[in-house]
Amino acid sequence: MRLPENFIQEVVERTDIAELIGHYVTLKRAGANLVGLCPFHSEKTPSFTVSPSKNMFYCFGCHAGGSAITFVQKAENLEFADAVEFLANRAGLPMPRESADSRRDSGVPRRRVLEMNLEAARFFRACLFDPRLGAPGMGYLRDQRGLSEATIRHFGLGFAPPEFGLLTAHMHRLGYRDEELQVAFLCGRSKTTGAAYDYFRNRVIFPIIDPSGNVVAFGGRVMDDSKPKYLNTSDTPAFRKSNHLFALNFARDCCAEQMILCEGYMDVIALHAAGFSNAVATLGTAITPNHARIFARYTQKVIISYDSDEAGQNAAKKAMQVLGEVGLDVRVLRLSGAKDPDEFIRKFGADRFRRALSESRTGFEYQLENVLGRYRLEEGAEKIRASGEICRLIAAYPSAVEREVYLALAAARLELPAEALRSSVNRIRDKQQAELRRSRSREAQASLKHFGDRINPGSAQAPRAASAEERVLGMLLLFGEYRQAVAKGEIPLLPEDFFTEFHRRVFAEVMRLEESPAGFRPELLGESFGPDEMGRIQKMIVERQEMAENGPGVFRSAIEALRELHRQKEAQKGDLSAQLAYLREKKAKLHKRKADDT
Ligand code: UTP
Ligand code: MN
Repeated sequence: MRLPENFIQEVVERTDIAELIGHYVTLKRAGANLVGLCPFHSEKTPSFTVSPSKNMFYCFGCHAGGSAITFVQKAENLEFADAVEFLANRAGLPMPRESADSRRDSGVPRRRVLEMNLEAARFFRACLFDPRLGAPGMGYLRDQRGLSEATIRHFGLGFAPPEFGLLTAHMHRLGYRDEELQVAFLCGRSKTTGAAYDYFRNRVIFPIIDPSGNVVAFGGRVMDDSKPKYLNTSDTPAFRKSNHLFALNFARDCCAEQMILCEGYMDVIALHAAGFSNAVATLGTAITPNHARIFARYTQKVIISYDSDEAGQNAAKKAMQVLGEVGLDVRVLRLSGAKDPDEFIRKFGADRFRRALSESRTGFEYQLENVLGRYRLEEGAEKIRASGEICRLIAAYPSAVEREVYLALAAARLELPAEALRSSVNRIRDKQQAELRRSRSREAQASLKHFGDRINPGSAQAPRAASAEERVLGMLLLFGEYRQAVAKGEIPLLPEDFFTEFHRRVFAEVMRLEESPAGFRPELLGESFGPDEMGRIQKMIVERQEMAENGPGVFRSAIEALRELHRQKEAQKGDLSAQLAYLREKKAKLHKRKADDT
């Protein structure tokens, strides 16, 4: 059976790739990545890298690379589906049954799901404000959670009564069928009769609204301590949880300077009610690179305000890294005396929260305090180890200015001269740079040896086209903007534009996934491409990442290069007069360019 795409994504998201690979390879930290000796070819200096934030691995020596799934395929010699099962077992996720993917291929259009959601949101709200039906919900929100009626209305909160069929009957009256309601995750389906029943029951309802005003999903909270605390809409044709942030529809208008990232719906609501309408939350998932790109679109600075327990602080550390990687200025808030921002505001008020915000620490300060907290600095040996760890943190920052600022900070906290720390940081950087150069030159040697390309044999006949294609695919693999532009036809690009067969297949598969309800994720390619091919795909990603700054220019000029090569080929095929016409046109262009230059 073909595995549902959202299940594959969940398996990858729930796998800590560094921990997984750590069982096979001894890994050492090097900046944002981990490095080690490649398990897939023999080497004495490490060229094997793991990126926890991107959930990928890549070897600069032998070009093995891909997701956790690819790693398991290679290391355990398993087929794709078996590797997914291997990881699902490790993560404690049950394998989906056949029926699970019927939703995905539902054929229910996105618009229809959005219509149903809007009707359902109206229904839940009407229930909440109905004195007979909604009393428990209103009591909970107003009395127990202290929300004003204005806040309840602002967020469009609702209530799902305990009965099994109220929403279902209401939606039937509006002309929606059971199958559609199930696809939208508004209804479950009885195992015995197959009939639909309300998915959300006896819960207060938080509608999730995207920046264009569409109701894309719901979260429903119990009103006591029963489990699960929240039920959420799973993936539908209109919704993928890693594409959305709760309350972004409000935050988008006031977040140019900074945004606040919380864990829970209730935190966000409490913050908005207290005037911090730049607060958002992920929808019950850890933050993904996709979320980070959404933030980057709206703001420059994100202040992470997670729960103060250990789980929350660990999640904050991860979020710091993921957000930092897209170039956001990230800060972390540590609230003492309360378990989360919601409780903090209620206990201490908005002014204290505002003060905490202005005192929020940069990611580095936060890490620094973390390290310092783990050592007893009065002891020489421990202080040495602490400063070693801190120097490694500082060395990982690419900007010299940032390194200087942090050096000064660290020196003050450690009571050591900045000079001493600086030379240690420089030593670490020199070592990293040398390592990088070595792995580059190894890579060059390796590619010389492999002049007959096994994975993409077509590249031998068309080397220039193949490398233009790699640039195009690298951009498409990395950036959703380009995939969407191609999907919408804004950038015309078709499989026929590709010269080499392997690249044509990669292109077709990337675009197929992009247009599927689950959307594109690199690990999903593992279903159609073998582990060696995945390594090649990973190579295109890694190489493009290094050049991504000049994105749009690279992309367009690579496509232009492909077109030019096609025109040349056509001209060679044509008769003499066609060739002459082509050459004349080319000459004319050349003249024009010269004329423009002078
Ligand atoms: P919290 O347990 O911190 O919830 O989970 P909360 O929103 O602060 O709620 P209160 O204050 O206890 O009422 C944080 C987020 O994790 C997701 C929800 O998005 C929640 O807002 N979550 C939590 C779930 O999706 N399911 C759960 O069972 C629990
Ligand atoms: Mn909470």
